[in-house]
Amino acid sequence: MNFTRADFPEGFLFGAATSSYQIEGHGFGGAGRTQWDDFAATPGNVVRAEHGQLACDHYHRYAADFDMLKAGNLDVYRFSTSWARVIPEGRGAVNAEGLDYYDRLVDALLERELKPAATLYHWELPSPLQDAGGWRNRDIAGWFGDYTQVVMERIGDRVWSAAPINEPWCVAWLSHFLGHHAPGLRDIRATARAMHHVLLAHGTAIGVMRGLGMKNLGAVCNFEYAAPADDSPEAAKAAALYDGYYNHWFLSGMFKGEYPANVLEGLGPHMPNGWQDDFGVIGAKVDWVGLNYYTRKLIGPVDGPWPSHGEVEGPLPKTQMGWEIYPEGLEFFLKRTHAEYTKGLPLFVAENGMANPDVLVDGAVDDQGRIAYVEGHLAAVRRAIAAGVPVQGYYLWSLMDNYEWSLGYEKRFGMVHVDFDTLQRTPKASYHALTRALAR
Ligand code: NOJ
Repeated sequence: MNFTRADFPEGFLFGAATSSYQIEGHGFGGAGRTQWDDFAATPGNVVRAEHGQLACDHYHRYAADFDMLKAGNLDVYRFSTSWARVIPEGRGAVNAEGLDYYDRLVDALLERELKPAATLYHWELPSPLQDAGGWRNRDIAGWFGDYTQVVMERIGDRVWSAAPINEPWCVAWLSHFLGHHAPGLRDIRATARAMHHVLLAHGTAIGVMRGLGMKNLGAVCNFEYAAPADDSPEAAKAAALYDGYYNHWFLSGMFKGEYPANVLEGLGPHMPNGWQDDFGVIGAKVDWVGLNYYTRKLIGPVDGPWPSHGEVEGPLPKTQMGWEIYPEGLEFFLKRTHAEYTKGLPLFVAENGMANPDVLVDGAVDDQGRIAYVEGHLAAVRRAIAAGVPVQGYYLWSLMDNYEWSLGYEKRFGMVHVDFDTLQRTPKASYHALTRALAR
């Protein structure tokens, strides 16, 4: 890597991120059924109908996985707790085994002097809650608050940071409008409700955690740089709308107590009654914001109903996901988030990384593309810091190859290779390069 710790402010944290359903193996320990099990079991939704029942078997292998984090000189580990593992039916009875598991997980991190950064929801909604309307149902805020209470009464005294919900845009838009993620809906009314209820649940959970006396609470949102596909005013308008529902909606709700007008033009008629009265809860004070950033999109107008726009293929080099590599977008969002919304709160890059068609050759994986990707994006972070943005850490997605949702196990994001037949872990060149860069 072309940097060392000395290139960042004192105390800047380097970490890796994962999520429960993507690595743990949901077939163990009394975890309940989730909407991702249902989505994957429905033909056509997930490549080869792959699911997370075994995944990386992290449930049984977390100690060795954390040894790799430690040996890699990392400071902090971002993980999520699974609602369905802790409360299999989503409401009611607690699965003691599930709660014990997260208790052990946190202690295993602390024993290795790794900071545990917890997220409470990374997408595997318990199936019975989906039956009850899922994110369409306003009651989800209360259900989520109860689950938050159960988890944090147990581990809240030892986690270093906590965030309620990973990537609200994916929970709401990607899953209810585009239908690419569970529950696979393509329904504007469901979308409008999910776009609002996800923030209501966020604010409710922050309130619960404050009630428990917890500190260092944040929000993690994802961002895509929306570039107009050409110089026309129509393309500019199309890109501004994409920017609105992707990049502005959630921060605007949390920090300004309002939603962007261009998005309400489409979603307004479908919003739940009384949504204007919820910003007191939604705006619960947070201590930091995490940005997940991977790529940009070129957006242009298309005929058809709102939002009447679509993506145009861009010219830049792409990752295995087909995503253009555009580090300037990360610098842009760090600066804009600070200037327009968070105004001095610490920011973290809570996820950044690339999928690469990594193969094991003679026991090694030479992922030079990932090294260059990380270098480019950390240079963007340094530029933002130099411009006065208080960025305090960076998490690589991901510690190891894992379940990439509807794309199954084929897209490899890890700095550690996983053989999904044997589950053997092999650190890639990027892991070794990062380990050297972060040596103290
Ligand atoms: C964001 C999500 O949080 C994570 O679950 C996913 O695997 C990565 N992006 C890569 O797509």
